[in-house]
Amino acid sequence: MKYYKHVHDLIGNTPLVEITQFDLPEGVRLFAKLEYFNPGGSVKDRLGKKLLQSALENGHISPGGTIIEPTAGNTGIGLALAAIGTGINVMFVVPEKFSIEKQELMKALGATVVNTPTKDGMTGAIAKANELLTEIPNSYCPQQFANPANPETYFETLGPEIWEALDGHIDVFVAGAGSGGTFTGTAKYLKHQNPAIKTVIVEPEGSILNGGESGPHRTEGIGMEFIPPFVDTAHFNAIHTISDKDAFARVLELSQKCGMLVGSSSGSAFEACLREAKLAKPGTNIVTIFPDSSERYLSTGIYKNE
Ligand SMILES: Cc1ncc(COP(=O)(O)O)c(C=O)c1O
Repeated sequence: MKYYKHVHDLIGNTPLVEITQFDLPEGVRLFAKLEYFNPGGSVKDRLGKKLLQSALENGHISPGGTIIEPTAGNTGIGLALAAIGTGINVMFVVPEKFSIEKQELMKALGATVVNTPTKDGMTGAIAKANELLTEIPNSYCPQQFANPANPETYFETLGPEIWEALDGHIDVFVAGAGSGGTFTGTAKYLKHQNPAIKTVIVEPEGSILNGGESGPHRTEGIGMEFIPPFVDTAHFNAIHTISDKDAFARVLELSQKCGMLVGSSSGSAFEACLREAKLAKPGTNIVTIFPDSSERYLSTGIYKNE
């Protein structure tokens, strides 16, 4: 008999799947880590678990206290899931534009959701969270955008899982960046194992990594309005800026050709992988992360190509 004692034990160790349904140059292989297999449905379950653990260990929070975090949604779901059964309250500040499904799931897991205007972006959500911290006693903000535990989460889990799954045969690592934690931690781990691995960071148009202006985009979960302190340009060898149109077209193709029901940040990462594949020599293994599932974006018309 094989069974688990708690859904918390199901976080991580997600499947890595080869994508064979697309025309790739001879000898180039592409693999995706399906993070929607986590119990809260995204790559951010790993972060929620780690942020809560380190907050408890460092005495920043104790039962009865409140965690307050600005989040695009998935980190909130991860934190709310991790907090179940701990006696810790969770409150999230979410810009209005983010998907209603994510906000409903956070609430279903017991969280309070505070919305901020879409036009103020994540910067507005961060400002509101700071305000709430001064008002609510025994509150603590893990600050995923500044907390070194964010990249550490992925250095400790995602990086080793990918390395082991492919016995180290990795040539290119591609991942989208919102806070940059997933990319930074995983890329750092892989580079430690083999400095020759090419690390490629992915952003939507409307993100500032490639020198562009900050602006609106439909691709959800990635895109930077500022560069968090733990993101170091030394960690990446290339940047791909992917339009919403290209990302959403890939989302549809991934479902129809591969049966992979993924969110738009996965579509964006996949488009970047195909661009890398065109540049690659035979024998190249490209690995990417599919952070979450399309099911949490159905209300936003993810398959409608609007
Ligand atoms: C769907 C989705 N994709 C990608 C990311 C980017 O992850 P990171 O903040 O680690 O850069 C997030 C972050 O919440 C996300 O929710």
